[in-house]
Amino acid sequence: MHTKNLISITDFSKEDYLRIMKLAADFERNPNQNLLEGKVVASLFFEPSTRTRLSFETAINRLGGRIVGFSDSSSSSVTKGETLHDTTRMVSNYVDLIVMRHPLEGSARYASQISDVPVINAGDGANQHPTQTLLDMYSIIKTQGRLDNINIFMVGDLKYGRTVHSLLQALSVFEKPIFNFIAPPELAMPVEYKRFLDNKGIRYFEHTEFNDIISEADIIYMTRVQKERFTDPIEYEKVKNVYILRNNMLDNTKSTMKILHPLPRVNEIHPDVDSNPKAYYFTQALNGVYTRQAIISHIMGLK
Ligand code: CP
Repeated sequence: MHTKNLISITDFSKEDYLRIMKLAADFERNPNQNLLEGKVVASLFFEPSTRTRLSFETAINRLGGRIVGFSDSSSSSVTKGETLHDTTRMVSNYVDLIVMRHPLEGSARYASQISDVPVINAGDGANQHPTQTLLDMYSIIKTQGRLDNINIFMVGDLKYGRTVHSLLQALSVFEKPIFNFIAPPELAMPVEYKRFLDNKGIRYFEHTEFNDIISEADIIYMTRVQKERFTDPIEYEKVKNVYILRNNMLDNTKSTMKILHPLPRVNEIHPDVDSNPKAYYFTQALNGVYTRQAIISHIMGLK
């Protein structure tokens, strides 16, 4: 029986985070390592994905493992009414590790309780996206040289954006983070995450407008308004273009500041930002391959 899953970022300790950062740096230097030879990994994506699925599959290939699974649950027996319970139980008989994305909050935790093999949460609804968080942390440590004392501006859909929820929890274990939340009231950071920071005595500030305060940022973390989580399309239309980051807004920001975005973007970062050296989101996505190699190695005890 396995001992480790990665369902919530809080399943891992600070020591785990730092070990994964070191392993990711090792995989970046030397990506092709046959540590998964003879192992089969299931990639179960019940919800669309480009980066998470393809970077996991690249990571598994670079580790010498094999992949089974689906990228569209309409090609699986879910369409015949098979439950997540039965799908998980069956697949865990076939493979050594399950990577799963699902639209329902709590689905990955539920699957991990059924599975005989480790489960990695590749995103469960608006809840958690822990592997994204680890690649975000790897991107921060690579560009800032530290995870302590980071002043981070989280911008956009802080209500439904699972990546900001996981990242907030992860950065809270490091020294003196400062969080600045920029969101319209409808998409504000949920109260449970603000209470989490309050209980730890961590400073945060809420804003509804971009303003000169971004000159203090080490990281600006942009997010997409999560259209798929809205029940009312009119509500989505009201907020979909609420913040658009443009190149001329970056003039007074720190020279070391980097812009992260989990991607995909829609309109929230204008393409004129892409050529600015402060734009880091495409490299951030590449960092996902090394970080996911590190996560798999850590969970499977390969290193
Ligand atoms: N960042 C992220 O989760 O992207 P995908 O939805 O393309 O996997």
